[in-house]
Amino acid sequence: MDFEKIYQEKKLIIENNIYSYLPSLDEKSIKVYNAMRYSLEAGGKRLRPVLLLSACEFCDGDIYQALPYACAIEMIHTYSLIHDDLPSMDNDDFRRGKPSNHKVYGEAIAILAGDGLLNTAMEIICIDISSSIKNLETTTKKVLAASEIFEASGCKGMIGGQAADIDFEKKELSEDVLNYIHIKKTSALLTACIRAGAILGNADEEVLADLTEFAKNMGLAFQITDDILDVCGNQQLMGKAVGSDAKLQKMTYPSLYGIDNSKAKVKELEKKSLLILDKYKERSDFLKNLLLYLTDRSF
Ligand code: IPE
Ligand code: IPE
Ligand code: MG
Ligand code: MG
Ligand code: MG
Repeated sequence: MDFEKIYQEKKLIIENNIYSYLPSLDEKSIKVYNAMRYSLEAGGKRLRPVLLLSACEFCDGDIYQALPYACAIEMIHTYSLIHDDLPSMDNDDFRRGKPSNHKVYGEAIAILAGDGLLNTAMEIICIDISSSIKNLETTTKKVLAASEIFEASGCKGMIGGQAADIDFEKKELSEDVLNYIHIKKTSALLTACIRAGAILGNADEEVLADLTEFAKNMGLAFQITDDILDVCGNQQLMGKAVGSDAKLQKMTYPSLYGIDNSKAKVKELEKKSLLILDKYKERSDFLKNLLLYLTDRSF
């Protein structure tokens, strides 16, 4: 299989559609629209929407039915990055190869741009659900997919993880807290992408359970790799600062276990994830390759 080609095709579907979901704003509030668009246009891997579409496809679902959810999740992720970079959070000046949102638009507009993206995500999903409200079966799966996304991005997931990430800066390193932070701030949303895509694709219980296990391990491996890149990565390739975690004395895998052990942990999680999908044979080729691409990435 040509993994790169399929990934790019899915990424292109997102990029060709995501801007059409942005609200049209009048001149007086155009600044927030420009700021929202700025961070979306800056790019990124589009990993989360690609995951959502891939999980839907894995279950033989219609990826175009899943498209609003994929675009919504990329908006939620982009909002989380804008807020993550704010001076009161990680205080990072670069993101996706460009000055961070607050560096261009100022803090107030950057906060509102993040809020705007989150709200737009909610609108996209509510509008999509209301378009099929007369069909109980379709509406049910859409509501279930929406719950996955909003629960994972909310206080029980990403927001909770981000809060702990900030709260535990400069504190004594602890394995429990570290896993709590990583699972909540990153793995939860990645798992929701897979679960929402699978639900929209009418996954049965067994497939949903396997994909969930796969995604949880992948999510953790993804954040550990991000932590490793924060120490050993190339700023140019990543489009964001290196050394940000050490500067803020964050609780990370490299700070607790060192680089070599962190790399070994990624390999262990990678192995575990791949094993879960073995029984699906060629059907799981894309998801398996996606995992390997994420754990082997340099950006
Ligand atoms: C960065 O996510 C934030 C983390 C959860 C580590 P990505 O590495 O997916 O960022 P983009 O979307 O490619 O910019
Ligand atoms: C952020 O983790 C995770 C989010 C939910 C945004 P990081 O703070 O490590 O992400 P980067 O390294 O700035 O992208
Ligand atoms: Mg952070
Ligand atoms: Mg950060
Ligand atoms: Mg990081």
